[in-house]
Amino acid sequence: PYPTYNELRGTDPIHQVRFPDGQLGWLVTRYEDAAEVLKDQRFMKDISKLYGGSMDQMSVFTQNMLFSDPPDHKRLRGLAQKAFTPKLIAGMRNHIQEIADELLDPLSDRETIHLIDEFAFPLPIIVICEILGVPAEDRDKFRVWSNSLIEGTSGEIGVSIFEHMNQFIQYLGEWFAKVREHPGDDLISQLIIAEEEGDRLTEKELYGVVSLLIIAGHETTVNLIGNTVLALLEFPEQQKLLREHPEMVPQALEESLRYNGPVEFSTSRWASENLELGGRQIRKGDLVVVSLNSANHDPAKFNDPEIFDITREKSPHLAFGMGIHFCLGAPLARLEGEIAISSLLERFPDIQLNIDKSELEWRPGMIVRGVKEIPLSIV
Ligand code: HEM
Repeated sequence: PYPTYNELRGTDPIHQVRFPDGQLGWLVTRYEDAAEVLKDQRFMKDISKLYGGSMDQMSVFTQNMLFSDPPDHKRLRGLAQKAFTPKLIAGMRNHIQEIADELLDPLSDRETIHLIDEFAFPLPIIVICEILGVPAEDRDKFRVWSNSLIEGTSGEIGVSIFEHMNQFIQYLGEWFAKVREHPGDDLISQLIIAEEEGDRLTEKELYGVVSLLIIAGHETTVNLIGNTVLALLEFPEQQKLLREHPEMVPQALEESLRYNGPVEFSTSRWASENLELGGRQIRKGDLVVVSLNSANHDPAKFNDPEIFDITREKSPHLAFGMGIHFCLGAPLARLEGEIAISSLLERFPDIQLNIDKSELEWRPGMIVRGVKEIPLSIV
């Protein structure tokens, strides 16, 4: 599905981009180079450390583990990690299954469903809202704010994304005030207690971590579910195999992550010194971005990368990143994906795309790869 990447990987694997302000950027498309960038901490995340200053309003959303380097990274990740250990996540299986069943029950006697709106979107949101302790009823608001930040456009005429950011910040501020008065055993309460106990988390970092989890919880697993269903429709023999062997769902999800990962690019990194990458000279301050989906289609790493093959053995894909920023939510995303796909296949013996494939509308923006809606006929 990625002809441009195939070309770049072959002829110009570390592709130079010059921005209008003179900033040099590099797009990395081969697996080996991609893995090197993700692992090498000389590619840093926090540009304010490189040049001084901060990005003000945006910085409320960036003072978190994803945009920081050691030693801050460890402290910020450590606080949230407690809620995302594989053991704690595994303990959520029955509850997530209940949520999936509650969403699917009213759809079961229908002829058509809107997969994204009615199932793939609400499932991970309800789960992340419960972990954080924010009301799941507010999910429509979160969706608007989160989409706005990720897609870089408000989606509403006359409304700037800054308005949405302000509304988001205000909402979180009011929510934190409530939690300070009546803490519970949710993650926000734990983070607030940590903040009050010492200097482990600043006020801005509290906003940063919570908004990151809300956004990550909104923009990723929904597309893992959607993209997996699309791949199973595109490769009916793989769907048949999976229906015959439902125990292969986890493997099918790994292949879906490789074949059509929900996160197209890594977040930006900047070279902290002059260095060499794949034979190119990268200067201190240059921007470096890795195309995860291109790396996952590199024929030097994966045989027949254009084939969706759920029997593929050992697939070290980069869909969740690599190194210290490896996705914190991976165990949760995998569990939600497994429950979602198993439940769909079990309930609906036949699923068909209700529109022509060419009518699928891909979401705008550079970061996520997923479609807006998947209308399905179900039997
Ligand atoms: C980091 C992908 C689901 C929370 C990342 C990164 C990737 C990624 C590629 C690293 C980015 C980089 O190095 O530039 C995905 C995919 C998901 C998913 C494909 C779903 C299929 C989630 C969920 C959560 C989450 C459900 C939490 C609710 C995070 C956090 C980080 C992260 C907190 C930052 C980790 C750090 O910087 O140490 N994710 N993610 N992700 N993800 Fe996910």
